[in-house]
Formats: sequence, C-alpha cells, structure tokens
Amino acid sequence: MILTLEGFMGCGKSSIGRELSRRLGWDAYDLDSMIVQRESRSIAEIFASEGEEYFRRIETATLEYTLNLYDGGDLILSLGGGTPLRNAPLLKEKSCCIWLRATPETIIRHIGTSDPTRPLFGDDLRERLTDRTPFYQAAARHIVDVDGKRADQVADEILALIK
Ligand code: S3P
Repeated sequence: MILTLEGFMGCGKSSIGRELSRRLGWDAYDLDSMIVQRESRSIAEIFASEGEEYFRRIETATLEYTLNLYDGGDLILSLGGGTPLRNAPLLKEKSCCIWLRATPETIIRHIGTSDPTRPLFGDDLRERLTDRTPFYQAAARHIVDVDGKRADQVADEILALIK
C-alpha cells in the first residue's frame, strides 16, 4: 500500500511518517527531501531563484516518479503542504491519502509565526489554509485531526484506519 500524508505546513507529516515507518517497517520518504536531493539546493533556494511554478513542476514529477516506482509495493510518503494543489486526483487514485488536519493554532505552535525554510509560510496562514481545504478534501481517503496529539497517538489512529 502507498500511504501518503497530506496537510498544511507544520501539521507533522514528516514526524508522523517516521513514526509509521518505524512501526510498519516500510520505506518512508519525504517528498521535499527528495526534491532537495534531486536539485542539490534547499526549498528556499529553489523558490528564490526559480519561483513557485518551477517548484510545483518538480514536485509533481517527483511525486509521479515515486508513485510509479512503488506501484504494488509498500511506502509511506510525506508530502509537501502544497502537493495536493496539482495532484489531488492522482493522490486519491494511486494512494491511501491521510489528511493530517490541524487548526491554525496547532500550526503556529509547531512552527511559530515565520520560518525562513518555508517560503510560503506567513501571516496569510488562515487564508491559505482555507484555500487549500478543498484540495486536501479531494485527495483524502481518511482525515485525522492532529490537534493536541503526539506523533505516536496519530500513528495509532492511522494504523487503526488502514488495517
Ligand atoms: C509548501 C510546503 C512545504 C514545501 C514548500 C511549499 C506549501 O512543505 O513543500 O515550501 O506550499 O505548503 P512542508 O509542508 O513540509 O513545510
């Protein structure tokens, strides 16, 4: 099974992905880390020198490649916060996509009010979250609310949903 984790920046996709990988013994990747490796530069550098459109194209290509590579196998893939913007139907069709839903308060608790490594994170948080909700909804097979929960508790809920 390909398990994908979606949700806004700071909802815990990467740490919950690591926790699930530890429990299931499956390969786990982080889409942003794959992009950084492929481009040999940080996400912030890619945005600064090439812009968001270029990043989205690389993001989609890396996602398609990974979903094809693991077709029929087991994988946990932590997505970027914006990955479903262009890929919701693909994620719905080719993976069991879990939406890690977080309130703005939880996101701010995890990240703070700014983060130089996340070029799209800023004071428009609530508006951006609202704009993204239909895309998260369209890709999701299951929704797990993460507010006030530790990564291991969220992993327990996900394991119960997929077994
Ligand atoms: C983005 C989220 C980031 C990263 C990029 C764009 C977004 O990933 O892909 O900065 O559009 O929400 P995280 O959700 O892991 O921070």
